[in-house]
This record gives sequence, structure tokens and C-alpha cells, in this order.
Amino acid sequence: MPANNPKKLRKLYWVETEKCNLGCRYCYYNTALKQKTKTIEIPIEKKLELFNSIPEYFDEIVFTGGEALTDPDIFTLIAAAKKQGLKVDLLSNGVLLTTENCQKIISLGVDCVSISLDSLDEQTNDYLRGKTTSVIEGINRLLKMKSPTMAIEIMMTVTRKNISSIREMVDFCYDNNLNLWLDPAEINPNISRVKPLDLTLMSEDEKQVMTDGFSYWIDKLKKPSLSLYVQACLDLITGKKVTNINCDMGTTHFVLNPKGELNPCFSREDINYGNVFEVGLSAVMNNSLIIEKQPQLQKAVCLSLGCVCMTMVNENDPYQCK
Ligand SMILES: C[S@@+](CC[C@H](N)C(=O)[O-])C[C@H]1O[C@@H](n2cnc3c(N)ncnc32)[C@H](O)[C@@H]1O
Ligand code: SF4
Ligand code: SF4
Repeated sequence: MPANNPKKLRKLYWVETEKCNLGCRYCYYNTALKQKTKTIEIPIEKKLELFNSIPEYFDEIVFTGGEALTDPDIFTLIAAAKKQGLKVDLLSNGVLLTTENCQKIISLGVDCVSISLDSLDEQTNDYLRGKTTSVIEGINRLLKMKSPTMAIEIMMTVTRKNISSIREMVDFCYDNNLNLWLDPAEINPNISRVKPLDLTLMSEDEKQVMTDGFSYWIDKLKKPSLSLYVQACLDLITGKKVTNINCDMGTTHFVLNPKGELNPCFSREDINYGNVFEVGLSAVMNNSLIIEKQPQLQKAVCLSLGCVCMTMVNENDPYQCK
């Protein structure tokens, strides 16, 4: 079964909680691009039981949310994942990178912490996300305390409002030995309050600013292979068809939502392989629907801006710890 293909890294994105301490303007949960699940607390014991079978199907877990650090149980889950020899990534908004939490993250051996930050300019980042000062303080704290083996990455969600912040962010990451990933935002065209952020509405001058920023990123990182990703982003923004992307979501990578339902992808909640807390992970992973849906998913028929598969073009997966 492809999910057991030993050559490919098998990854579980676990939306561990839907709760969040920010309300980012473009967030797909705030703009109805994705379904916001109603909180139903799953007991930690039930979550921990999953680790008996997770290593059979996955090599790496990306804990995300909502904001995973708002849930104190996150550290128990990370410890359980590490005990099973899994790689662990934590995707966070950075607000709760307190000294105590940084210490826990480091001592538990988290392999990679990805922190979302859209601009070093406080006004711009506060407009898009909020609590910029705490986040930058948290990043600096983690940088000072971290072990040499732990990777830190900045996830910059690119909208029309922060294209001119890209260069400064590239320099900041380069100088501090941080990985940087640029992720164009998908904007819901039906929500008028997010229209000013929509990259598809950029003027020619703005497109040039964005293209220059992306080129600067590729050049400074010395990663010409990223040009495929950048071209795919620009094509999607200008409404061109993108055909050179293969998608691993639903084949080797899956998403577990807060209710415990396994989906192929963050954006494909219409495909539900079953609830791991009700029938167990093995039963869900052996659902024949997985095989049935794979050919279509692999062709990336549902590709759009903000697609997680775009981050894996040419194996430049930012969630893959170096
Ligand atoms: C949903 S958040 C969850 C983790 C954590 N709360 C954070 O902000 O990093 C995961 C990533 O998705 C990004 N994101 C949210 N809405 C998006 C959208 N509409 N298009 C593209 N990326 C988006 C966020 O900026 C963040 O980098
Ligand atoms: S912090 Fe993350 S989950 Fe929370 S609103 Fe912002 S992007 Fe969404
Ligand atoms: S193409 Fe995009 S939306 Fe479709 S499964 Fe892949 S990552 Fe998800």
C-alpha cells in the first residue's frame, strides 16, 4: 500500500486543536475557506493510544492547529511521538514561545519549529496577524536556547499587503540561519473584507515587487530548484493552468482533524477516511477509499494557491526537517 512505501517520508499533519490565540485576517478558518470544527475535547488518553499504531503508517508528525501551544497536552503528545522515534515538527504562531515552553520544546527534542511571521515591520504584521512583538521575542528566545540540531523556520504567508516585506525577511532569516518558506495566501473571493489581501488582484507593479522578492529569496538561498515552485505560484496568481505538480496528500501524507477524522488534505475535508478515535488508525488507514481516491489526488486536480503540495515541489518541503 503506498502509505507504507519505504522510499517516501510518510507524514501526518495533526490539527491537534482548533483553538487559537490570534485571529489572522486571511486565516482559512476565519474566512470560511476551511471548516472550523466545533471543539469537542478528546481525552489525552485516547490521543495517546494512537501512538501504538502511528509508527506503522507514519515517520513524521507535524503538530498544528489552530494554535497547538494553547493546548498544554501538546507536550505529552510530542513526548509520545519522540518516544516512538518519530520526527516531530511544530507549526506555531509563536505567541506562546515563552522561556518555559521553549525549554520544553528543546528538551523533548522537537526536530523543527515552524513559526508564522508575515513581516518584520510591526504595523504590517500586526495588521495581518497580530502580537508581533511577542512573536519576534519568542523567535529570538528560541534561537538563543536551541540545540544545534533543531531547525527553526519562518513561514511567511504572502498577501498583497506584505509583498514589499519579503526582501527584509530573506535577509533576517539568512543572517540568523533560519529556514524561510514563502507561502502565497489563498483568499476567499466571497469575503469582501479580505479582498485587499488578494494576490490575484495585484497591479503589474505589485506583481513585479512580488516576483523580485521571490527571486531574491531563491538567489540568496542558492536554491535555483525553487524556481519551479515560484513559477507555479505566479502562474496560479495570474490564472494560468499549472500542470507540473504531483500531490502526495492522501498517498503518503494525511491530515488528522481535531475530531479525529482522517482527510487526505487540509482542503479536502469532503473526503473522510474515518474517525481514528472511533475505529482506530489501522482500520482508517486500510479503508479502500484511500486507494480509490489516490489517482485523482496525485494529479493535483484540486490545486490552488496555499496548497500544501506546492511546498513539496522538487522536494523543497519546508516541513521536512533538515
Ligand atoms: C492555519 S496555521 C496553523 C498553525 C499556527 N496557528 C500558525 O499560524 O502558524 C498554518 C499556516 O497556514 C497559513 N495560512 C492560514 N490561512 C491561509 C490562507 N488562506 N492561505 C495560505 N496560508 C494560510 C498560516 O499563516 C500558517 O503559516
Ligand atoms: S495563528 Fe494560525 S490558526 Fe490562528 S488565526 Fe492565525 S493562521 Fe489561523
Ligand atoms: S492538490 Fe492541493 S487541495 Fe488537492 S489534495 Fe493536493 S494539496 Fe490538497
